[in-house]
Amino acid sequence: MIGARISSIRAREVLDSRGNPTVACRVTLSSGASAESMVPSGASTGVHEVLELRDGGKRYGGKGVLKAVKNVNTTIARAVRGTDASKQQKIDYAMIALDGTENKSKLGANAVLAVSLAAAQALAIHRRMPLWKSLRKTFNFPKAASLPMPTMNVLNGGAHANWSLDVQECMIVPRQRNMAERVRAGAEVFHVLKALLKNSGYPTTVGDEGGFAPKLKNVEEAFMLLVKAIRKAGYRPGTDIALATDVASSEMYDKRDKKYHFKTENKVYSAKRLLQRYLEWQKAYPLILIEDPFGEDDWDSWKMALPSLSKKSLVVGDDFFVTNVKRLKRGIQEKAANAILIKPNQIGSLTETVDAITTAQKAGFAVIISHRSGETEDTTIADLAVACSAEHIKTGSLSRSDRVAKYNRLLAIEQEMGRG
Ligand code: PGA
Ligand code: ZN
Repeated sequence: MIGARISSIRAREVLDSRGNPTVACRVTLSSGASAESMVPSGASTGVHEVLELRDGGKRYGGKGVLKAVKNVNTTIARAVRGTDASKQQKIDYAMIALDGTENKSKLGANAVLAVSLAAAQALAIHRRMPLWKSLRKTFNFPKAASLPMPTMNVLNGGAHANWSLDVQECMIVPRQRNMAERVRAGAEVFHVLKALLKNSGYPTTVGDEGGFAPKLKNVEEAFMLLVKAIRKAGYRPGTDIALATDVASSEMYDKRDKKYHFKTENKVYSAKRLLQRYLEWQKAYPLILIEDPFGEDDWDSWKMALPSLSKKSLVVGDDFFVTNVKRLKRGIQEKAANAILIKPNQIGSLTETVDAITTAQKAGFAVIISHRSGETEDTTIADLAVACSAEHIKTGSLSRSDRVAKYNRLLAIEQEMGRG
């Protein structure tokens, strides 16, 4: 494509929403089109994720990313400069080959992904297209573009909120017809929830993803509060706004006794008893999505639970699949889940991310495009969700600009699609 050759690649160390260093990268094309990406970073990371390269040592408590930045500015830049940015696969596979490891540990997945995303963004500018349209052109997604259902994490727990609650996320899912109404419904419930918490004497400070983080009695109290807030805001629980949860159960699984330890509630569960509890939640609340109900290597429990759990909810693999096609294929074959969480930095390039999306879609799995708990102002995931017509997007609560930036981008995309 004329003018779309990569002429320069320049990375830099910046901060994420938790104040930890992360990689930013600017890619400029021969036409002058130029864009900058920033990569996110998780806290409750899956053990099977690719490697985020950190410097160690004293700087930033060992979390500096100068090595990853250097890898972009030297090794990767030398290999990728001159490549046509419309050949995203070529760029990504060149970096994968250059790295040569299974988990991108040589160059760092944070280095590779930063270049991968910035190249896609610069190309969109070169093509004078919104990013979601340009991604569709590059990857030829089979389904028509559509706006995802947001799953909004308004009550934070687990590793994101100092274990105020055993499950990591209690979410609301506004099901209104358009994005503006979904965002409005979510924000209205968020504010009613804040008032409810305040009136009950709970703190209304927020956790890593912008949701409230009160120390509640148990998960049921969280769901009850959400249902109450939905009603009080004038919406029908289930019909207008459903619920979702990310149990992030790998954080609670103990390999030694093969049990799930809900430490805040002081309860210990076998997988079978935990499934019973999930089924009770489903009976009592409009719970349409359960993420990581079992541990990342507890395949038997996933398989045991799917037939009953999937009757009312999407059963989503996050730490379980880590956006990895190999693990996803096994999950499809062994009937372990019916949905996948997609996080580009779990696998480390746009091409591999899209591979996971299309593999999932072909198998009839639902796709949920997701942020990380450590985020930046980069809004690529909003465009990706629309481009591939993901069923859901998970991008946090209705506060904090690192989360709201993605909702605001979805509102802009709705207009770009001629629907706003
Ligand atoms: P993480 O959490 O970004 O800290 O891994 C998000 C999630 O588990 O979905
Ligand atoms: Zn998760």
